[in-house]
Amino acid sequence: MDPLEIGHIIGVDGDTVEVQLAVTDLKLDYHGKTYRVGRLGTYITIPMGRRTLIGYITRVGATGELDPAPNPEAPRRITMTCQLLGTVQGDQFRRGVNEYPTLGDKVRLGVDEDFELIFGAFDELADDAGVRKAFSMGRFAIDTDFEVKVLGKDFFAKHVAVMGNSGSGKSVTTAKIVHEATKLKHSQVVLFDMHGEYLHAFSDDHGNPQRQVTYLSDRNLVLPYWLLSYEEFEQLFLDTHDPLNINAQKVFLRQAFERLKAPAAEALGLKWEFTIDTPVYYSLEQLQIYAENMNAARFVTNTDNYAFARLPYRQLPREQQEELLLTKRMEFNPAASEGETPHATFYGRLLGLINNIETRLNDRRYDFLLRPFDQAQRNIDLAPHFDRDAPLRQRSHTAGWVIRQMLGRLEPRRNLTIVDLSGLPFDVVDTTVAVLTRALFDFNFWSPPDVRHPVLLIFEEAHNYLPRKPIEGRKTFARAAVEKVAKEGRKYGVAAMIVSQRPSEISETVLSQCNSMVLMRMNNPDDQEYAARVVSDQFRSLISLLPSMKPGEGFIIGDAVLMPMRTLIDMPPKLPQSANMDFFGLWSTGGKGCDVDRIIDRWWRQERSAGALAAQMRAERGDGPESHAGTAAACEAPADPGAVPATPGADVAPAARATPSERESSGDPLADADSDATSAEKKLAQLAAIFGVARKQSGKQG
Ligand SMILES: Nc1ncnc2c1ncn2[C@@H]1O[C@H](COP(=O)(O)OP(=O)(O)O)[C@@H](O)[C@H]1O
Ligand SMILES: [Mg+2]
Repeated sequence: MDPLEIGHIIGVDGDTVEVQLAVTDLKLDYHGKTYRVGRLGTYITIPMGRRTLIGYITRVGATGELDPAPNPEAPRRITMTCQLLGTVQGDQFRRGVNEYPTLGDKVRLGVDEDFELIFGAFDELADDAGVRKAFSMGRFAIDTDFEVKVLGKDFFAKHVAVMGNSGSGKSVTTAKIVHEATKLKHSQVVLFDMHGEYLHAFSDDHGNPQRQVTYLSDRNLVLPYWLLSYEEFEQLFLDTHDPLNINAQKVFLRQAFERLKAPAAEALGLKWEFTIDTPVYYSLEQLQIYAENMNAARFVTNTDNYAFARLPYRQLPREQQEELLLTKRMEFNPAASEGETPHATFYGRLLGLINNIETRLNDRRYDFLLRPFDQAQRNIDLAPHFDRDAPLRQRSHTAGWVIRQMLGRLEPRRNLTIVDLSGLPFDVVDTTVAVLTRALFDFNFWSPPDVRHPVLLIFEEAHNYLPRKPIEGRKTFARAAVEKVAKEGRKYGVAAMIVSQRPSEISETVLSQCNSMVLMRMNNPDDQEYAARVVSDQFRSLISLLPSMKPGEGFIIGDAVLMPMRTLIDMPPKLPQSANMDFFGLWSTGGKGCDVDRIIDRWWRQERSAGALAAQMRAERGDGPESHAGTAAACEAPADPGAVPATPGADVAPAARATPSERESSGDPLADADSDATSAEKKLAQLAAIFGVARKQSGKQG
């Protein structure tokens, strides 16, 4: 008998087959190696003449357990359900099955020789013609001798989702993927980093961003407010407290944008084309002045003339009066005066709007948006191009420099842009992601096809700004922008990668477009259910295995791999600064200790990003000027791990900077994985116990 034969087919249902085991010993020795039979996630083969089918075990069960009077002598009937994945013919593995097995067909255990064939087919693809076609993601968990390779073309051309619990290894996986992508000189990645984790992974030994990296944080990110669409602007500044005033503010803003944008639009030759959404320069101060004027405006009763406090102005023609209202603060009489009628729409109704503009202008966290000329002085790439006194044309053309920097189209060329959102006020994170995503999409959309260059946008902790359902009272601009990329981006060379711990809370439109996935440990039933829904039917059965995965272990699914592969993902050379704090570890080691005054100072200054901390340390040491994107000293120390000021771990830099091996030995997040044995694993353990098979530690399972 064939030494690898373990049973035969007793049922076929589409791509799923039911197998009855013929062996009672669930261990099998073959060519010096011991294999376990009937383990979830392992493979079987079904010889079919010239072809061999490859299947994957998704369920194991035994009959007879409930027999009221079981006969201890009679062997139990063990059955397994297997998903058919592909066919080997000659020495070629192909996905899919076009010839089905039938009842009684023999079933063999999948062993190294089979994997060699399957993986070997893949290697061939990898080194064809000297051009890199695949990259390595890690080791095959079932047999760590095998490397898991991912076809770059398929992986990056389809949108990608990386999903798993907090601490399951998503950020490390993302850093690994980015590391592999950016090895290619002409690649282009823009990473939206919610927690300021990634500078650490892409910095040199001194903590400065690596040469090919542009690091942008609240200190040097420049996103001029004139890039906001009308609606985005309205969302940020409209005062909604009094419903009676909302309409007046909207009418005012539309009218103001039309007037304020006209000069720059005309200078650019867009007199007829421009709309209130056209991203051309206008002055926010002027908008503020105009709002203050209109909030106080009155007419000379029964005329069209404004009733300015200074009488000579009252006589001016209406157009000149309008011009004055737009450009300088005009005085009106303070109280209701005889012969004057307040402006029917605006009088007294724009105060909330004016307050909102003023408050944000005075809040330095908004500088990146509202004071772009000042902010650009801290950004070495942009400073020469941001001149507030330049002609209107040129001020509008600053948008081009923002995009050049985002896409690394500067000297020297850079292929990774990290947008550290951790220091931005929460209410602008959505807008920031939206505006940049929209700008990068539109840029590629308007590029002629022959010069279009593909770009990958990575959305970390995406549940924060790509919610599944609209949030009440808020527009969700980032969601709309990313959904557009998800639906149409591929055509124009814009790919999205969604990283999240809460797939069930993420826009379904976006996730359902992700054809490549890395599914990591996932315990929440809602998330599992949701993941099961978006992965194709064929892979649904994998979901039951998700809770039992270790940190750094993931199923790679999609066209970029030959079949779904349980993979121990390799660590990249440098790790992201994990946002998860090791409470117990820090409580036992004490960490570095915290300097309360420095933390309070950061609080005052509203500085949380990694770049900000470095600059503060430089200033305290008195060495040298402000730092810039992508240049030395943008960050000398890693970010605090997403901590709010004055938490015990706010200064945990040394622990957080531990090398990979130090991290492993500290053992923090790895420890809880094993205790997390899932029902699937427990079931298997019970089965194993019934048949007297020792259960291996789940930690060694891979
Ligand atoms: N590929 C991996 N191999 C080994 N350990 C890993 C791996 N990925 C993550 N870990 C461990 O898990 C921790 C948390 O990983 P992280 O990527 O920050 O999780 P997440 O982003 O899902 O919250 C890491 O600090 C590391 O100790
Ligand atoms: Mg993370």
